[in-house]
Amino acid sequence: MKLKTKDLLTLDELTDNELSKIIDDGIKLKKQLKKGSHKPILKNKTLAMIFEKPSTRTRVSFEIGMFQLGGHALNLSSSDLQLSRGESVEDTAKTLSRYVDVIMARVYDQKILEILAKNSVVPVINGLSNSFHPCQTLADLMTIKERKKKLKGLKVAWIGDGNNVCNSLIYGCSKTGINISIATPKGFEPDKTVIKKSKKKITIVLTTDPQAAVKNADVVITDTFTSIHNRDKKREKKFLPKFQVNPSLMKKAKKNAIFLHCLPAKRGKEVTSSVIDGSQSVVWDQAENRLHSQKALLISLIHI
Ligand code: CP
Ligand code: NVA
Repeated sequence: MKLKTKDLLTLDELTDNELSKIIDDGIKLKKQLKKGSHKPILKNKTLAMIFEKPSTRTRVSFEIGMFQLGGHALNLSSSDLQLSRGESVEDTAKTLSRYVDVIMARVYDQKILEILAKNSVVPVINGLSNSFHPCQTLADLMTIKERKKKLKGLKVAWIGDGNNVCNSLIYGCSKTGINISIATPKGFEPDKTVIKKSKKKITIVLTTDPQAAVKNADVVITDTFTSIHNRDKKREKKFLPKFQVNPSLMKKAKKNAIFLHCLPAKRGKEVTSSVIDGSQSVVWDQAENRLHSQKALLISLIHI
């Protein structure tokens, strides 16, 4: 499938059908891999990965994904590039895109991704910015679909910080027909533009009451209260104890609700070990699904 968009910077670029297809292709690629069949669909294709911030899952899943598809990935810390000595983002994009077939970047400022995309002749993928984390949403939706066998009509409850992961998830829910209730402390709500755009298609409830948010939820999701770009050391105090996902909060969701977390988690803060290690948790499938869903994304962005 040829995507309409050249780049994936927020998730909003994908049409509803394109997003559903990537999720389903991720599920298919996972099954193929488990059966032992590796199709080198991206033979001789190359991916440049630029990291301004640390990463475990994004880095490893993209690198292994390219390897499994017959291609190659380069890990480029921004501090090792001439970017660190003042070469412009524009010139970096123009140069890199003469060598590689796709660029993935994890950055602080979303604007950097926009400049990269504007100046690159090859696709640019957001591997997390302060504002969005679209690749995480692909894996989250794939994990929900595997477990619930559908997406449309489900209810997701997001508890905690209305952050980058939450912003892309809202777009993802809106494009797949999932209703979402978001419980945050006052002042920690997700992006207003994202909400405004997304609420045309689904029900979005913003609340400061986690118990109300999880009521009748099929999926409960949280993320760390302190993202990589957050500097305020007192931030956590604004979330605890009210916004912790613990067994008592999980009991208020549907009996068969699943628990998701993009990881890394701060155990004992946004989630207790009993929940993340408990029977409702699917976080390891979710982490694994970064690999499969991103392979589906790479195949659809690099038109072959
Ligand atoms: N979930 C996620 O993006 O993890 P990393 O920060 O380890 O890449
Ligand atoms: N919200 C977190 C996600 C980490 C994968 C952060 O930005 O640090």
